[in-house]
Amino acid sequence: MVNLTIDNRPIEVPEGTKVIDAAARLGIIIPRFCYLKALGAVGACRVCAVKFVAGPVKGIQMSCMTNAMDGMVVSTTDPDAMDFRRQVIEWLMVNHPHDCPVCDEGGHCLLQDTTVAGGHGRRRFTGKKRTYLNQDLGPLVQHEMNRCIHCYRCVRFYREYAGGDDLGAMGIASRVYFGRFESGRLKSPFAGNLIDICPTGVYTDKPARFRARRWDLERAPSVCLHCSLGCNVMPGARYREVLRVEARENEAVNGPFICDRGRYGFFYANHENRPREAGVDGKPAGWDEALDQAADRLQTITDKYGSEAIAVLGSTRSSLETQLDIIQVCEHNHWRSPHFFADQQTEERVRQAASSLDRQLAAGLPDIEQADCLIAIGADPVNEAPMLALAMRQASRRDAAVAVIDPRPVELPFAFNHLPVAANELEIFLAQLVRLACEITGGQKLSPAGRQFSDILTGWTRGREISDELKKFGEALAASSRPAIICGSGLGSSNLPGLAADCTRLLKEICGGGLLFYTLPGPNALAAGLLTSSQPFSSTLDAMEAGEVQALIAVESDPLFHCTDRHRLDRALAGLELLVVLDYLPSATAARANILLPTTTVFESGGSFINQCGRLQYGTPVHHGGLPITWTGKGSHPPRQFSNDIPGGGVKSAGLVLRELADLPEQQDTTLQPPWRGLAKDHPLGAQLQAIPYPANGEIVLPEKSNQPVFHSLAGQEETKGNGKELNVLLCDATFGSEELSFYAALTAKLTPAMPYLYLHPDDAGTGRLRDGDQVNLPIGESKQSFTVKLVNRMAPGHIIIPRHYRLTGINAAWPGKIGLDQLTKEHGDR
Ligand code: SF4
Ligand code: FES
Repeated sequence: MVNLTIDNRPIEVPEGTKVIDAAARLGIIIPRFCYLKALGAVGACRVCAVKFVAGPVKGIQMSCMTNAMDGMVVSTTDPDAMDFRRQVIEWLMVNHPHDCPVCDEGGHCLLQDTTVAGGHGRRRFTGKKRTYLNQDLGPLVQHEMNRCIHCYRCVRFYREYAGGDDLGAMGIASRVYFGRFESGRLKSPFAGNLIDICPTGVYTDKPARFRARRWDLERAPSVCLHCSLGCNVMPGARYREVLRVEARENEAVNGPFICDRGRYGFFYANHENRPREAGVDGKPAGWDEALDQAADRLQTITDKYGSEAIAVLGSTRSSLETQLDIIQVCEHNHWRSPHFFADQQTEERVRQAASSLDRQLAAGLPDIEQADCLIAIGADPVNEAPMLALAMRQASRRDAAVAVIDPRPVELPFAFNHLPVAANELEIFLAQLVRLACEITGGQKLSPAGRQFSDILTGWTRGREISDELKKFGEALAASSRPAIICGSGLGSSNLPGLAADCTRLLKEICGGGLLFYTLPGPNALAAGLLTSSQPFSSTLDAMEAGEVQALIAVESDPLFHCTDRHRLDRALAGLELLVVLDYLPSATAARANILLPTTTVFESGGSFINQCGRLQYGTPVHHGGLPITWTGKGSHPPRQFSNDIPGGGVKSAGLVLRELADLPEQQDTTLQPPWRGLAKDHPLGAQLQAIPYPANGEIVLPEKSNQPVFHSLAGQEETKGNGKELNVLLCDATFGSEELSFYAALTAKLTPAMPYLYLHPDDAGTGRLRDGDQVNLPIGESKQSFTVKLVNRMAPGHIIIPRHYRLTGINAAWPGKIGLDQLTKEHGDR
């Protein structure tokens, strides 16, 4: 620690702290344009000048470039320093177009604020300003180069931090240009951060362009729902419509950045077909009528078949409050135990992940950044949890070894080792790698349990060939002290998450450290995994087919999107007497509902979510909701009328609607009675939640140490080599538009290829029969779907990999498990 004085106030800070950050700890905000803690210092703008009055450094210096040292005496208000800063601002403003009235940054512009605060109010420069041509950077980011002050934040973020290569600094001296080599969509899935970090209006939010000033927006701290990481966001709404989402800094989760899926996925809330009014048997109905009809029909079914004939299916995108309401309502009415997963394999993997995780193991994004060796197994970070890829890049920049064991053509924004192994070989490869590390370290430090597990690994992997690549990575793993296993939940057997936990515990023993990071399917998947009943949804499907279940209530859930046995589900739904859907998405299931009850989104009702490492976070309601004014005014602002009602504003959260349906009173005063008060203390989640106030503030809700491992075993190995045999069909995520919420974002069509596509290994393409770019038909259920073929070497042979696509609506879940190559037919016949 070092001690210094800033503006006559003493402060102690860790060694290496910049003076600009030391001052911030005292609440003294020194102006800055180029400095951003996450990006480091470059000293490009010179606006953070302060005077070093005494101590090891003297005179005017840049506070972002100077480390705090013992005995420093710093003045931020010294007249020389203030004059220096004033002159810097005046130079920077010489070429600035002063177009604040038409600039979207106006109102939250660092340059505008600093210029006004610095006292530069009169322009003395009368010459010609430097001007540039702007570029079209795609549908997300607007480019206005004339406003640039050359702080280099954009390229430092884009190239160094995010690993993008299609934006850079070009030119020389005072004519440096920040942009692409030529117009075109920015390729990085983190490009939207340019909007937040640019201190002026060079990069602004294109979809929100000219829609509102910052001060016009209703804003509230919220949580991103587009994957399981729970990045912190700040949505902004105006006139009953969400207009934009910005990153909200949280050093324990996402730092100052978010991904583009998180930034632009919110358009589902404004979807033109979003359920806005209740419906009965396909016709619009009043709220009370729909609710009465639902209650009457449920009562009739209870009278006829018993209360167990009613089932409820929740989801991983619902808030914890809604999930708990579902459980309470089912218990109160003696309905079947609720489910939160429509797909059995996914449920099994998530349940195992949720029960394996404890505080000793769970890693967050900052832990991944600090890891010195990363093994991603069955995980495709950019496509499943994009900010994870950014965290992995930071680890890689610190020389961490990174290996990805996955059959898909995984891409990351840095160089890494990819072992494209078959989906059913993920476990054995993980076992082999960890055994290798165990062998290299000699295994002397192992506990009895560790030794037992190490022996199990040796038994499993005995006689298997070890590739040079695997051997090299095993050595890196053995040499590491902070390794982390990143385990996906979309591939592999249901034992993979448990095996990953066992291996992490073993790594802890042999390396002295080891963490585990799961990627899960949805923002509240961990909670769903802990809350879900012992029977999977397939048991309810059986009961539906047997006529034992006659009513299904789908709460913020679209089983037709998730269930992999789509045709079975179709038939089972058709046999029901009653399908009630509570949702805000215009889903395939909602379209089939006998009774449709619209609900609010997180932007309107808020809610709590537990992220993949057990962090409980609350998203505050952002606005009341209702029909956007642009709709009610048919494109323009409607004439102002006085009314106490908000058009379309009577919609409630799914949990409240369900309680109303079940005639359970709304929970009162949640600060005194947190919604989790009713969870039994011996419930794995209940015990952790008891001491947490409402709303929660990022508390970790995992047990200190999970039960001693019952070692998970390997699943059976099945031959999956290609070349004429059947190929495994894997449906997987793409960065944008494939998870359930951004699937309904209008921007999806602009961000994904126009046609669905599939990846195939050249060895499986049949000699010359299928070529890169061919159009093929794939039989899916009773129909055929057209795909563009992408032949790639960097994937495991024996698979057809299909990223979800917005054009695949309705048949998303109907994938055959396997397919013969001859079933892939070319659209225009074989050549
Ligand atoms: Fe949202 Fe996930 Fe992206 Fe974070 S990484 S911003 S939680 S989609
Ligand atoms: Fe220090 Fe730019 S903030 S030189």
